[in-house]
Amino acid sequence: MTDAAPALVMKGIRKIYRVGGDDIVALDHVDLTIGSDEIVALVGPSGSGKTTLCSIAGGLLSATEGSVLIGGHDISHASARELTDFRRTSVGFVFQAVNLVPFLTARENLLVVDELAGRRLRRRGAKRRADQLLEERGLADRAANLPAQLSGGQRQRVAIGRALMNDPELVLFDEPTSALDSKLGDQVVRLIRDEMKARGTSAIIVTHDDRITHYADRTVHIEDGRIDGKVVGSA
Ligand SMILES: Nc1ncnc2c1ncn2[C@@H]1O[C@H](COP(=O)(O)OP(=O)(O)OP(=O)(O)O)[C@@H](O)[C@H]1O
Ligand SMILES: [Mg+2]
Repeated sequence: MTDAAPALVMKGIRKIYRVGGDDIVALDHVDLTIGSDEIVALVGPSGSGKTTLCSIAGGLLSATEGSVLIGGHDISHASARELTDFRRTSVGFVFQAVNLVPFLTARENLLVVDELAGRRLRRRGAKRRADQLLEERGLADRAANLPAQLSGGQRQRVAIGRALMNDPELVLFDEPTSALDSKLGDQVVRLIRDEMKARGTSAIIVTHDDRITHYADRTVHIEDGRIDGKVVGSA
């Protein structure tokens, strides 16, 4: 992919958390560009700033300094309301804890994305899409199950389906496999890779697991809020 705008451009990002008079520098002059169909593994020790980086890339959190562009759109100065809109339409999140709504079925957990995006009028289309995403993940016969009635790997597949409901430019995976055993973790990462490549969607996958980096196009290391400067991108 050559001409398309990068999925993500972060420039000069600093994030300072203020806790009881102390400043914690979580990100320090981070520059990161992710190509329009690139999968990047983000690796670093606990506390190095990975979740903070993903939260800023996805418009969940504002940077203290610097700019963020998603698919060419600058969200650095967006209002809270604009950011909410942006999250509903342009990014997908899959977190370690999965965060499925416990009292909604697998299908309803996907449909809730559509409702939040205020697209209720297109409800029938959304249902078809939800069912298709579940079916593609081998979950057609589990659509009516609550999260507690699914296995860990199945829950993670529902979460991945949910992240794709809004057809995002960029999907942020924050340790999507850490709750899974290694075999299942491997399967889930392969699934993520296949899906992102099939859709031409970009992704950041945060992981502590070196084997996962094998499935990424590129690995970016972060330490103490800094990204190593010598990364050579494939995009
Ligand atoms: N809401 C917050 N308020 C204050 N400090 C925070 C907050 N969130 C994170 N931090 C601090 O910022 C730094 C980066 O945290 P972050 O959660 O981004 O790390 P991480 O790389 O995701 O770690 P882990 O691998 O343990 O999930 C840490 O020192 C952390 O203590
Ligand atoms: Mg984290």
